[in-house]
Amino acid sequence: MKKYLLNITVNGREEDLEIPAHRTLLEVLREDLGLTGTKEGCGEGVCGACTVLVDGKPARACLTLALEVEGSDITTIEGLSKDGQLDPLQDAFVHRGAVQCGFCTPGMIMASKALLEENPCPSEEDIKYALAGHFCRCTGYAKILDAVKAASGSDGAKRDAEPAERAQR
Ligand code: FES
Ligand code: FES
Repeated sequence: MKKYLLNITVNGREEDLEIPAHRTLLEVLREDLGLTGTKEGCGEGVCGACTVLVDGKPARACLTLALEVEGSDITTIEGLSKDGQLDPLQDAFVHRGAVQCGFCTPGMIMASKALLEENPCPSEEDIKYALAGHFCRCTGYAKILDAVKAASGSDGAKRDAEPAERAQR
């Protein structure tokens, strides 16, 4: 089978591969590079589990041919933590109970990351819009919204209210 050269940067590291024309970005990430944090749910662009950032924009890796993103900068869930510290979104998902089985979580976090880069203080409607088409089969949507708010500037009033609420108990 004919193979083509692919050069991409993944989580800051340059990668050179030889792949067939039909290989998807999801296959390259999971099978060639061993980055299994990106999940395959439906495999047909519907569930959002495979979302990664391509040059900062969310993309469904299962529907993206790897050769289409030649020369691009790809960020996966593995690329978010820095110096052993979780990204604030990852931290918020853990501490707000937004992770159940965890299968949808990488895609949810990558889409939320793109949202917060563009709009650091989104409304609830903005968050819902950004996460539309991301399915959580454990149905923990309320806590996922809560976690994205907590990681953004839009949760300030709630955070400020919490100590007072605790003091009243
Ligand atoms: S696995 Fe890509 S959208 Fe479902
Ligand atoms: S946490 Fe299980 S699918 Fe969302």
